[in-house]
Amino acid sequence: MAIIQFPKDFKWGAATASYQIEGATNEDGRGVSIWDTFSKTPGKVHNGDTGDVACDSYHRYEEDVKLIHDLGADVYRFSVAWPRIFPNGTGEVNQKGVDYYHKLVDSLLEKGIEPMCTLYHWDLPQALQDKGGWDNRETIEAFVQYADFMFKEFDGKIKKWITVNEPWCSSFLSNYIGEHAPGNQNLQLATDIAHHLLVAHGRAVKQFRDSNIEGEIGYAPNVTWFEPYSTKQQDIEACNRGNAWNLEWFFDPVFKGSYPSFMVDWFKEKGATPTILDGDLEIISQPIDFLGINYYTGNVGRYKENEGLFDLENIDMGYDKTDIDWFIYPEGFYKVLVKIKDLYGNVPIYITENGACYNEEPENGEVADHKRIDYLKTHLTALKRSMDSGVNVKGFLYWSLMDNFEWALGYSMRFGIVHVNYETLERTKKDSYHWFGETIQNGEFTL
Ligand code: NOJ
Repeated sequence: MAIIQFPKDFKWGAATASYQIEGATNEDGRGVSIWDTFSKTPGKVHNGDTGDVACDSYHRYEEDVKLIHDLGADVYRFSVAWPRIFPNGTGEVNQKGVDYYHKLVDSLLEKGIEPMCTLYHWDLPQALQDKGGWDNRETIEAFVQYADFMFKEFDGKIKKWITVNEPWCSSFLSNYIGEHAPGNQNLQLATDIAHHLLVAHGRAVKQFRDSNIEGEIGYAPNVTWFEPYSTKQQDIEACNRGNAWNLEWFFDPVFKGSYPSFMVDWFKEKGATPTILDGDLEIISQPIDFLGINYYTGNVGRYKENEGLFDLENIDMGYDKTDIDWFIYPEGFYKVLVKIKDLYGNVPIYITENGACYNEEPENGEVADHKRIDYLKTHLTALKRSMDSGVNVKGFLYWSLMDNFEWALGYSMRFGIVHVNYETLERTKKDSYHWFGETIQNGEFTL
């Protein structure tokens, strides 16, 4: 038995995102997003699921805020649907959309919960996609206008801002692998989009400073971990490339004002080079106040010629997987955090996402999701170990508060500590919700 204890001022919370929970996609003047279009394109999303209703949080936000409150959370991370604020991406503001977020934020503040707001969690206005989306630098301008509007509108209410969520997903997963909206498969395009998302991030940070907004701002890249199968140089290098796709590619520009040269060379051989304009890297490398980290999975990797983009193969070492088929690898959580500290110094970190997909259903009003509790225990233990090694972690937000629309996998994959019945929209607290609540209350748990 060991007690894993967190500092008194450690912040606990849970996270969601607009398209995944809100529903009400046609209500109160909301514009169309690329996920509306993508999910309605046959064959793109499991079972033809869409976010039209999702968890109906647009109407049930008070019930959801109560769930966050009852959990004892300090922070709630949510995202704003850009097309609710600017239905066409730019131009006229849609007041009803703005009102919705005021109501949500006010009810959080009334209950003493701190709002953490993500500006871009993937629901790009379709009107901007029609003009090239993130490939077109006008989208950067549109994003800065939207961000500035939100900063000023919510100044004094929202004090933690995240510019972009998981830019790897909105670039490479969406435009090279093609699994997410808009579903392109083009490495050069994806590389440019990754760059434009970073420029958009930096421009928004600059705008935040120039407008003198109260609070803190950062971004939330997703990281993973490949542990080399052997000490062979080839295995180590292949894993370095696999890791750097998420890590150095999206961190070096922000923290060092450059792209990692070993990756630039590698991508060049694959026919892709980011299109960088004068001044871009200065803009991208604006100092940030905190770093959001999303971590779910890692594994052991080995060099294999012509395997994937990086000559890297995944080895099945027999580690357990969650129901979404991702290896459970808490050691990677520890290692990646220590690497971030070694590479980029001691920036304050919030774990903006970590969580497990298990698809248990309620029985007699209870959801016995013990595997999720085990996942949480091992990952929080790894996290605490990183803190003991000097990583500057300020808080942990579980993904997700409730089951929701898991992108291309629709409603088939559940990450919530609250179960959602998609027929009745009834919410049921899972065992993990109670366990997490106790951990928050005590600031510690027993292994
Ligand atoms: C990352 C994303 O930010 C979130 O939207 C998604 O649902 C979770 N990971 C789980 O895949």
